[in-house]
Amino acid sequence: MSKPISIFLSKEQIQKRVQELADQINRDFEGRDIVIVGVLSGSFIFCADLVRALKVKAQIDFVSLSSYEGTESSGEVSFRMDVKQSLVGKNVIVVEDIVDTGLTISFLLKHFKLKNPQSLKLCSLLRKKARMKIDVPVDYLGFDIEDKFVIGYGLDFDGHYRELPYIGVYGE
Ligand code: IMP
Ligand code: MG
Repeated sequence: MSKPISIFLSKEQIQKRVQELADQINRDFEGRDIVIVGVLSGSFIFCADLVRALKVKAQIDFVSLSSYEGTESSGEVSFRMDVKQSLVGKNVIVVEDIVDTGLTISFLLKHFKLKNPQSLKLCSLLRKKARMKIDVPVDYLGFDIEDKFVIGYGLDFDGHYRELPYIGVYGE
């Protein structure tokens, strides 16, 4: 049985904000090469829209982590797939769908720092500030949101709803 979904961020709101984030990255990295690392699976749509709005030269890679079951983080993070290239001396921007407790992304950033990139930035479409257990600075943030479980635009509930063009609140 699917629960009702209320639209929280419209397709237009998301697209405007993604363009603004890309503009910011284009300004900050003008004339430099960057490596975009999308965190699968939740960021795949955000990442695809973001990179198509970039003017800076970008290599695109992905990582896959496991930390989430249902609507609650298990707190334990592990790698399913790491990047395929060396990050030594690179300008890396990690692209995430949402920072919730911060456990997943702080694990990933710690791991990436050991790869000696020249710079390491975090771009996240969403952040649930009230839920953060670890204070992770988000260099490029789309929206701060309330503590609600959201789906759509890449975000899922048990693998469903990723294809929605908007972000909705699950169960409302
Ligand atoms: P964290 O480790 O608690 O920060 O959890 C981060 C991961 O949990 C994100 O990358 C998402 O994949 C997932 N997640 C957290 N909150 C939500 C949500 O509201 N909807 C869908 N996925 C979520
Ligand atoms: Mg994710």
